[in-house]
Amino acid sequence: MWRPLSFSILLALAWRGFAGRCPRICVCDNIRRHVSCRRQNLTEVPVTIPQMTQRLDLQGNALKVIPPEAFLQLPYLTHLDLRHCQLEQVAEGAFRGLGRLVYLSLASNRLSVLYQEALDGLGALRQLDLEHNHLEEIRPGAFSQLGSLGRLSLAHNSLVYLPDMAFQGLLQMRWLRLSHNALHVLAPEALAGLPGLRRLSLDHNELQALPGEALSRPDGLVQLELGHNPLTYLGEEDGLALSALRDLALDHAALQDVGAGAFARCPHLRSLDLQSNQLGGLPPLEGVGQLRKLNLSGNPLSCDCAARPLWEWVAKTRVQTDGLCSEPRRLKGEALESLRAKDLYCRRQGDKEKEAEEGAPRPRAPTRAPEEATAATPCPAACVCSAASQHSSCENKGLRRIPSGFPNHTQLLDLRRNNFSSILRGSFPGLAQLVSLHLQNCSITHLEAGALHGLGQLVYLYLSDNQLSGLSAAALQGAPQLRYLHLDGNHFTRLPRAALKALPRLFSLHLERNALQHLAMEDLTGAKGLHCLYVSSNNISRVSPGPALELERLHLDRNQLQTVPTAALEALPALRELHLSSNPLRLLQDKAFLPVASSLQHLYLNGTGLQQISPGAFAGLGPGLRSLYLEKNRLQTLPAMDSFTGLELINLSGNPFHCDCHLLPLHRWLAGLNLRVGATCEFPATARGQKVKAATAAFEACPGWGTKKGKRILPSAQRKTRKAQGKRKQLGPAKVGKARPGKRSRHV
Ligand SMILES: *[C@@H]1O[C@H](CO)[C@@H](O)[C@H](O)[C@H]1NC(C)=O
Ligand SMILES: *[C@@H]1O[C@H](CO)[C@@H](O)[C@H](O)[C@H]1NC(C)=O
Ligand SMILES: *[C@@H]1O[C@H](CO)[C@@H](O)[C@H](O)[C@H]1NC(C)=O
Ligand SMILES: *[C@@H]1O[C@H](CO)[C@@H](O)[C@H](O)[C@H]1NC(C)=O
Ligand SMILES: *[C@@H]1O[C@H](CO)[C@@H](O)[C@H](O)[C@H]1NC(C)=O
Ligand SMILES: *[C@@H]1O[C@H](CO)[C@@H](O)[C@H](O)[C@H]1NC(C)=O
Ligand SMILES: *[C@@H]1O[C@H](CO)[C@@H](O)[C@H](O)[C@H]1NC(C)=O
Ligand SMILES: *[C@@H]1O[C@H](CO)[C@@H](O)[C@H](O)[C@H]1NC(C)=O
Repeated sequence: MWRPLSFSILLALAWRGFAGRCPRICVCDNIRRHVSCRRQNLTEVPVTIPQMTQRLDLQGNALKVIPPEAFLQLPYLTHLDLRHCQLEQVAEGAFRGLGRLVYLSLASNRLSVLYQEALDGLGALRQLDLEHNHLEEIRPGAFSQLGSLGRLSLAHNSLVYLPDMAFQGLLQMRWLRLSHNALHVLAPEALAGLPGLRRLSLDHNELQALPGEALSRPDGLVQLELGHNPLTYLGEEDGLALSALRDLALDHAALQDVGAGAFARCPHLRSLDLQSNQLGGLPPLEGVGQLRKLNLSGNPLSCDCAARPLWEWVAKTRVQTDGLCSEPRRLKGEALESLRAKDLYCRRQGDKEKEAEEGAPRPRAPTRAPEEATAATPCPAACVCSAASQHSSCENKGLRRIPSGFPNHTQLLDLRRNNFSSILRGSFPGLAQLVSLHLQNCSITHLEAGALHGLGQLVYLYLSDNQLSGLSAAALQGAPQLRYLHLDGNHFTRLPRAALKALPRLFSLHLERNALQHLAMEDLTGAKGLHCLYVSSNNISRVSPGPALELERLHLDRNQLQTVPTAALEALPALRELHLSSNPLRLLQDKAFLPVASSLQHLYLNGTGLQQISPGAFAGLGPGLRSLYLEKNRLQTLPAMDSFTGLELINLSGNPFHCDCHLLPLHRWLAGLNLRVGATCEFPATARGQKVKAATAAFEACPGWGTKKGKRILPSAQRKTRKAQGKRKQLGPAKVGKARPGKRSRHV
């Protein structure tokens, strides 16, 4: 690449100037600007590394900690290798100043936590290697600073669980490696916010059932690796819905049976690897017209009459298959594909043979049917325990006390709709693997201290629809991993302050349909990890401020609020979604949302009796807002909405708009908006029922109407923010308009 000569010389001179400073124990390549200080037992980053260095290799030292701003003197670094450095901690801002860094390896260290702030300043980073550490947890948003990251490897760590929004903000991410962890559970939104993801490696984990919901989020996924997980069954209901998926690896799992429709919602599947499972057969797969390769090697295929439909399907679709028969003896070792139809018969006389002649045999039963598995597993009377799914259920059995004797590998225990009244100390012995506990509709009034003792892996606790009015910290002791707590439909009159203090990892709290009148946010002191708070359908008329929280979702709809609780929003700088529907607000005061203006994306104000929105009510809100619900109010007019350039949804239906000259700005704004908004005129009578956007006759006589008829309007604010927002396709290039120079422009 050509560079101005003087600049090159300058750089070279600068480099020479620093070259002399190469630390004694390092090797400096002055031409390529590489510095290597490998395996020198360094305990700190040497201070004399030349400033112009681009690649720095510090592998195999004993740094242990990366302090804040450790590389501030090396602003030109593009590659930094910190493998095998015995790292236990990366301080906040450790990499600050490395705005050019594209590659960072922290692999093979001893990191067990990584905080978001640790990765500050790495906006250009494209690849981050964190494999072979001891990470047990990913905090939601941990990587949200890394907007350029394309590859992230978290392989060979100790992850058990992925929370919602774990990878939020990674808009460029293409390949995410989570192989060789201990993942049992993926939260439904764990993989949300990864629009560019093409490849996901989840092999060598502990998934016992397909996390279908989580896996349907990255819908551009082309390659999915799920091999080496203890999956036993794949059916339609838990199947994948990935419209772009081409390669799916399910090798070395424990599959005993696969439903015909298991991949029906992956229409572009080309290659399916099922090798080394325990499949005795496979039904013809539905909805996979593009399938070319089906690897069945290493399965104990039964090549008798039951294999006929598969054989015919393979012959018809020309899918390349390579399964070998293990039964019957006469065909052992033969390739299924190489057989002729008439080889596939059942030896026994009678029905089976007849079926074979008719070519419509039933698919072979799995080698070990779930019922047999159930019989072999210990399970309390009245309950059903499945070894395959590791679920145990005693739903609606009229139980008065919690039974004991569940299999110790149970991960989900369903005790809904019984009548326990009180949960006694130590009610769940031997359930150290339990992840999800369902106790809805059980007439529970009280949890004793130690009720959850021993539930060290519990993530989800459902106590909805009981008669609880309090919850003590002691009751929750023993469940330190709890992240989702459902207390909706109980008798709480305030937030269970002490209990929340004992749950530092709580992510989501449901308290809908209780009897709260005052929402005291200070009761959330200690709930530092809380991201979602649901208090809809209470009787809340007051919200008082509390400590700073990472809250992203606050559902306050169906309460008695008469004003927007602006002061309480001050402590919620990350709030993205605010529900205030069905509160008697009536009017919106100035700057009502200012404290959360930079983070808010979804605002629900429908059904709030709004008659008036003061001109400054939406102050601060701008391109970040993606949806705004204003339907079913009593609005006759609206303030200027020009700054809302990022809207994907706005609902204005069910408002009695006055289509006179006051509404001209709205009319114009709507004309430039390619969204269905549902705004209709109520007055004047001549315009009643017309869309505000289309009611040109009502506005033609207004001053300033000018020549803009039928044109789209692009306000200046919109132009300024558009670049930052990313291009909105429906809006083309803007030209400066005439009518109000500097304020408005015209879109052609
Ligand atoms: C690093 O420390 C180890 C063990 O103390 C020692 O054997 C080795 O020689 C040291 N290496 C260097 C380059 O100092
Ligand atoms: C199936 O897997 C086996 C073992 O890895 C491999 O040798 C074979 O080529 C694969 N077949 C197809 C069709 O990919
Ligand atoms: C679970 O129970 C089985 C016997 O039922 C026992 O062999 C196994 O060690 C137990 N596992 C744990 C982790 O307690
Ligand atoms: C639960 O048991 C109590 C007695 O302990 C009884 O009064 C109540 O009606 C029962 N509730 C249900 C829903 O069966
Ligand atoms: C649980 O209780 C709620 C409230 O009492 C009720 O609406 C719901 O139908 C119950 N659900 C079941 C499955 O019994
Ligand atoms: C709701 O709170 C008001 C007072 O703010 C009280 O008058 C009313 O009875 C409460 N309603 C319910 C259902 O608790
Ligand atoms: C407000 O709008 C949302 C989204 O359409 C809807 O789910 C909710 O029920 C609405 N609430 C009211 C009170 O209309
Ligand atoms: C707007 O709200 C109305 C009333 O709830 C609903 O019928 C309509 O589908 C909504 N429109 C959009 C675009 O969400």
